Amino acid sequence: MIELIKGYLPNILDNLPLLPEQASTIAAEVDLLTLAWTAISFVSGTIVVAVALYFGIRYRRRYATQVGGHETHAPAVEIVSMLIPFVACMAMFVWGTKVFVDMRRIPPDAVEYFAFGKQWMWKIQHPNGLREINDFTIPVDTPIKLTMTSEDVIHSFFIPAFRVKQDVLPGRYTTMWFEATELGEFHLFCAEYCGSEHSYMGGTVTVLSQEDYQDFLNQESPERGSPVSGGRELFTSLACVTCHQEADNARGPSLRGVYGREVQLASGTSVVVDDAYLRESIVNPRAKMRSGYMPLMPTFEGQVTEEQLHDLVSYIKTLDNTNDVAANDDDSSDDSHDSETATSVSAGG
Ligand code: CUA
Repeated sequence: MIELIKGYLPNILDNLPLLPEQASTIAAEVDLLTLAWTAISFVSGTIVVAVALYFGIRYRRRYATQVGGHETHAPAVEIVSMLIPFVACMAMFVWGTKVFVDMRRIPPDAVEYFAFGKQWMWKIQHPNGLREINDFTIPVDTPIKLTMTSEDVIHSFFIPAFRVKQDVLPGRYTTMWFEATELGEFHLFCAEYCGSEHSYMGGTVTVLSQEDYQDFLNQESPERGSPVSGGRELFTSLACVTCHQEADNARGPSLRGVYGREVQLASGTSVVVDDAYLRESIVNPRAKMRSGYMPLMPTFEGQVTEEQLHDLVSYIKTLDNTNDVAANDDDSSDDSHDSETATSVSAGG
């Protein structure tokens, strides 16, 4: 039944000027749910009003001294009239939850982009460091994860054709994901009133084929390096590396492989290290102290921009056992081998 409706839905909606084009994997699902809710509400609302009108007229008081009849119970009618709305509501709830989970669960292979909201513009950063303002160029048929934050007030990132909208808040990260299915240009809006030029805060999402997107990336040379390389430089220039070294030490824990891991906190609870935790630990290190460490780390609030924070987080995320924390630790194994040879030579002599 649903498949049948789904088959016809795009054709119906194409001819309705009410909704924008369905240009993402989630769009048809969202429209179908909205349409179903509207239809069910309309039908049940009509029934209730019609029955109320009918009873009002049919059982009206016909003369001034008329009194009401005896109330009787009809358990079967009462049970059925409760059961039908209950089952309908639960069905809609389950369906709505499914669509919600589909919208919120980010596919593991999604490519991560970054967006900064600011009065009154959107700044987009591609994974290679390329930046756009009020333009968002993406490849088709690719799951895209967008991590967002605001540099001032609350904004909301809204692409109607993709049926996705997410508030963008100062001081924290929010995420959304989508996969564009149609080539072309689509509106991008700010959907949260954010000041006098809120209505101008928008732009264009351009969906290109995979090849065109590669050409686009090749043509536009990024004015800065990738977030990861920017973060690597900051990690040294801000002297993070003095305390966060290869191995845990008295001053600070090693950040190698920390992303995605559960760590113990001084408060006795634990936390899974994600973007938000890393960001918070840089601007407010005492908020969630790792257990076993002294609160030595100074806050970097006000010293780093949201963009630099994102660079640092991006870099820390890459620290596993194949990358090195400090650039100058590279050839320590060779050195020790050499000195060992030198020692044995001198001992022999
Ligand atoms: Cu930003 Cu409205």
